[in-house]
Amino acid sequence: MRSELVHQFSEEQMAKVDAVIEAHRKVPGSLLVALEKAQDITLYLPVNLQRYIAAGMGIPPSKVSGVVTFYSYFSTVPRGRKVVKVCSGTACYVKRSGEIMDRLKQKIGVGEGEVSADGEYSIEEVRCLGACGLAPVVVIGEETFGLIDPEHVEEIIEKT
Ligand code: FES
Repeated sequence: MRSELVHQFSEEQMAKVDAVIEAHRKVPGSLLVALEKAQDITLYLPVNLQRYIAAGMGIPPSKVSGVVTFYSYFSTVPRGRKVVKVCSGTACYVKRSGEIMDRLKQKIGVGEGEVSADGEYSIEEVRCLGACGLAPVVVIGEETFGLIDPEHVEEIIEKT
């Protein structure tokens, strides 16, 4: 299983994942933390990596996939180091979030579900981020940008 994963991730990444498994496998209730740390290393958690972590931690694969699918923080598809989230909830939609999405895709040079050639960015449409008073809203990595002017949305990429 590990040799298959080394084709997907580097040996260095896998060594770090192994260290995470080793550090958490005997600690009750540490699955969530272990998965967060693993995703920080690999940027996403495909099913084969979930199975590898489950085997390493001695827990059923269904328990790992249950956690990964429950929390939107986790991704099973490749992501860039910075994930651009464009809110398409009602308040943002009426303030031209569709145009914002199109302009950001063009600026970054990716479609939804793709990763930029340098591995830096991926882009996702998300539902209401709970900041409707700031509509339209875009989140890049850990940073939230509100009251965005669709005409100048490209500038926020340069700020990140
Ligand atoms: S609709 Fe975009 S933050 Fe609520």
